[in-house]
Amino acid sequence: MARGALAFVCQSCGSAHAKWSGQCSDCGAWNTLIEEQAAPPAGTSARRSVKGRPFALESLAHSGEPPKRRATAVAEFDRVTGGGLVPGSALLLGGDPGVGKSTLILQALAAFAKPKQTAIYISGEEALDQVRLRAARMGVAKSSVQLGSATCVEDILATISAGSPPDILAIDSIQTIWTSALEAAPGTIAQVRTATQDLVRYAKASGTAVILVGHVTKDGQIAGPKAVEHLVDAVLYFEGERGHQFRILRAVKNRFGATDEIGVFEMTGTGLNEVANPSALFLGDRSGLAPGAAVFAGIEGTRPLLSEIQALVSPSSYGSPRRAVIGWDSGRLAMILAVLDARAGLGISSHDIYLNVAGGLKIAEPAADLAAAAALISSFTGRPLPKECVVFGEVALSGDVRPASQAEARLKEAAKLGFTRAVVPSGTKAEGLRLERIADVRALAKLLAEPSG
Ligand code: TYD
Ligand code: MG
Repeated sequence: MARGALAFVCQSCGSAHAKWSGQCSDCGAWNTLIEEQAAPPAGTSARRSVKGRPFALESLAHSGEPPKRRATAVAEFDRVTGGGLVPGSALLLGGDPGVGKSTLILQALAAFAKPKQTAIYISGEEALDQVRLRAARMGVAKSSVQLGSATCVEDILATISAGSPPDILAIDSIQTIWTSALEAAPGTIAQVRTATQDLVRYAKASGTAVILVGHVTKDGQIAGPKAVEHLVDAVLYFEGERGHQFRILRAVKNRFGATDEIGVFEMTGTGLNEVANPSALFLGDRSGLAPGAAVFAGIEGTRPLLSEIQALVSPSSYGSPRRAVIGWDSGRLAMILAVLDARAGLGISSHDIYLNVAGGLKIAEPAADLAAAAALISSFTGRPLPKECVVFGEVALSGDVRPASQAEARLKEAAKLGFTRAVVPSGTKAEGLRLERIADVRALAKLLAEPSG
């Protein structure tokens, strides 16, 4: 293709096609091909005329002090970034529209901004008065964050380069930003990618920590942050279920920190509240002793987190029983059901099964297996688990219960919240709690069949 040739680029997978069609032949997505200008391929005369300049190579060891991280004083946000933003880095904050990304960023910037710590917030979506209104509602209107409303990346860079570089620059959102160098419409993959590259280049050159906000839509219609994840240093996702006030900030990529850390927030009428002790929040009010509920003692990042797993097992009136899972992996549920049938002889698979993690939390830890199994057995038999009991352990296909990491931290958190018993893999040691050590799922079924107390 010659320089400046137009190609039809799939906004979902990024593949280029010579002709337009309704469906992308690479990823199968519909109505995603949009006309964009293609870069001249390597080897063409347009590229060969460009000569590279040599640069100096350096040693791995740091010369002088490593750059100091910029902590925002919103502790849950700083925890997920790995202790604050790294100077010269770019961070992408993704999430569904309306989950609270703008609120989180404004709150973090307001907490950070001081006379000697500069923060700039550029909104491409909201008018300045709307941002001010939000700030007033959150009680941060007096903070020294500088505001701007712009969508052209050249304008933004010209404005910022005029003064000394800010410590933090936030762009809300990357989908609204466009560069005049391209003819493609704002929000297309080419625009989003080019604008991101320009801002990342600015971050590296100036030492500013850049935060990019990006909407992720479930159907992938809008060129999303997925297309720029590889360009930035860290990717955080802000998650939350509609109807729940909990919001979870999760790192999915972090060049300067761990990716298993989460931050927990609560959305209130006056902005986001940090939740320093999420276990109490996710457990909620646990006065009832309903069958089918088990408390899982989990670990999220470096922090123990108790959550409730609820199961409902009911006789199926259809040929193929229904399965619905919220907050847990459905493949994992199928495996646990098969293991319970094959190794404990339960005959549970022919039933309709619903599994839910309370509070809108998503659990990815294998250690939740045993808690899910306990909830399923409890609902199946109609016998509730003892009230002050937590469960954790990984279940193998053989039916054996495998030990889980950081058992001590899990049990300590449970004891702190008033739990007195724990169903755990055999070999687990602890003081203060009454432990039921379980070697396999058969032993679990037997334990739950006993009258509790
Ligand atoms: P917002 O930060 O605008 O979401 P995003 O930038 O991810 O699209 O948050 C929007 C939602 O948050 C909106 O439904 C209202 C709610 N909200 C509150 O409940 N309390 C508040 O103090 C604020 C500012 C927003
Ligand atoms: Mg927003």
